[in-house]
Amino acid sequence: MIAEMPVTAKTETSCMPAAARPVSREEAYVHFLGVHPDYRHLGLGRELYERFAALVRQRGRTVIAAETGAFNAPSIAFHCRLGFTLERGDELVNGVPVTRDFHGTGEDVVLFSLRLEARESADDDAGE
Ligand SMILES: CC(C)(COP(=O)(O)OP(=O)(O)OC[C@H]1O[C@@H](n2cnc3c(N)ncnc32)[C@H](O)[C@@H]1OP(=O)(O)O)[C@@H](O)C(=O)NCCC(=O)NCCS
Repeated sequence: MIAEMPVTAKTETSCMPAAARPVSREEAYVHFLGVHPDYRHLGLGRELYERFAALVRQRGRTVIAAETGAFNAPSIAFHCRLGFTLERGDELVNGVPVTRDFHGTGEDVVLFSLRLEARESADDDAGE
């Protein structure tokens, strides 16, 4: 997982340039999440998001924002299954809201957000 929770101008955890979209003080941003092909469909992706949600909540943030390639149907299905909402894009492509050239590198993406519920346990935020 490549993610960040910016502290003023710097990022706490980042291996990539900051998100093209400004990350608000309420948000943590997931650039990429990947599970080895041999270990998919075992709940690891969900587990990673659940653990990340716990960290996000500990740091007083309430929203996880994420992105995926515009035509990455498995990832879109995965995020929807975990309760993410699709953000409005520049246009609908086959019913999917696509944001064009999000990073200025020509890549079209789909943007998601998940609002975390205010409770102690993070077990179900990225799962129900
Ligand atoms: C997307 C990805 C991270 C999912 O990881 P995973 O460990 O296989 O996912 P999980 O097993 O935790 O699945 C969680 C839920 O999503 C659903 N899901 C996972 N992959 C799915 C798919 N391809 N199609 C539909 N639903 C899917 C599962 O059925 C599961 O739902 P359930 O618990 O209600 O049964 C993994 O497929 C991957 O690494 N893909 C390549 C990289 C990528 O595209 N990353 C996302 C872009 S940043």
